[in-house]
Amino acid sequence: MSKNIKIKPEATKLHGKIERIANSLFRNYDKVMGKLGLGGRKGDYDDYNYEFIGGAKDNLRKKHYDKSLRLLWKAEEHAPWSSFKDCTKGEQELINLTKGSLSNEEEQELERITSDEFRQFLKDTYTDEQRKATVAILTLIGHGEAYAWMISTELLNEVKSTGGRAALTAQVLEEAKHFVVLRELIKAFDVEIPRLSAWEYLLLERGFKAKGLEKFFAMNILVEGFALSLFGMMGHMPGLKILRLFHLDESRHTALPASYFQEFPMTYWQKNNPIKKWRRFMLIIPALPILVQIEPYLATLGIDTFDFGGSMSRKILNLSYKVGFNMPITKNNFTKLLNKIFNTYCKYARRDHKNKDFLHSETTVGINELKVENDVFKLKGVT
Ligand SMILES: [Fe+2]
Ligand SMILES: [Fe+2]
Repeated sequence: MSKNIKIKPEATKLHGKIERIANSLFRNYDKVMGKLGLGGRKGDYDDYNYEFIGGAKDNLRKKHYDKSLRLLWKAEEHAPWSSFKDCTKGEQELINLTKGSLSNEEEQELERITSDEFRQFLKDTYTDEQRKATVAILTLIGHGEAYAWMISTELLNEVKSTGGRAALTAQVLEEAKHFVVLRELIKAFDVEIPRLSAWEYLLLERGFKAKGLEKFFAMNILVEGFALSLFGMMGHMPGLKILRLFHLDESRHTALPASYFQEFPMTYWQKNNPIKKWRRFMLIIPALPILVQIEPYLATLGIDTFDFGGSMSRKILNLSYKVGFNMPITKNNFTKLLNKIFNTYCKYARRDHKNKDFLHSETTVGINELKVENDVFKLKGVT
């Protein structure tokens, strides 16, 4: 800065002129190519206004990005038996200070446990059959987390506005954390980890291939509605308390389409395009055999798979229709159809089955978990 470099003003002026011509040339070329559908500008970014296309949308940012950071949890703190070292020095000091103040003995025990001790705890607490069943159910969503990570990464480039992108960025970070942490938790059970079943493969692959904002339906509503229901059901089980934190994250993810469409409303055609309505419907129906697949595992844990399926479907349908992801039949008829499918299967597969309104079941456990879901599914907004 101290050197006074003498630059000829004509040179600066000439460069300015050349740059302005080049600027209009590059941008107009991209505009024409964009209009012809031959490419154009790839970056969905408005550099003239220092904003992403779609504007600031601070509400979306506050509801999803800021809140995610506020509620950011560290695996090192909540799963001390895991290999994660993600706490800051300050956080570690705080953990050491609060360690003694835990009231519940079992919690206190688990807060200090090492990896080997945690594995032993699981072996002592669960029978072999229960461990196998828990892993079969948890892996279902473990594989789902891998897809949620991939889908949210793609969706990040589909959403408009700075706030929308910030929200998706937080989700990508959380899905990464869910995948890696859940993987360690599942491995600690020391049983064989199953692959994706044919039904899950179909659901997740088709969800990933969904076009544009339809990914919000496939992922944030369908796959995450499934994840939210599972975490809500299993977070009270011994050693699985960490799933309550997953549950809280997933609640924000399932609420994201509603927040996003509040800022960028879907058109009537986007909601009611018959092909899209049919595709949504056809994403749900082939996924139903998953409930049959996990039936024996849930039974081992004392849960009726169709109670779980009914509880989850009710929430997914509520969210879908409220947001505007309509389907070829009304919500009421869809509810009746699912009850009919579940009862017909039970009549075939079970002894002495009596018709039941499965869609009114509730399998989420815990006052806080139910409150969180109530806020999301009634679309009160995430506060
Ligand atoms: Fe997740
Ligand atoms: Fe998620």
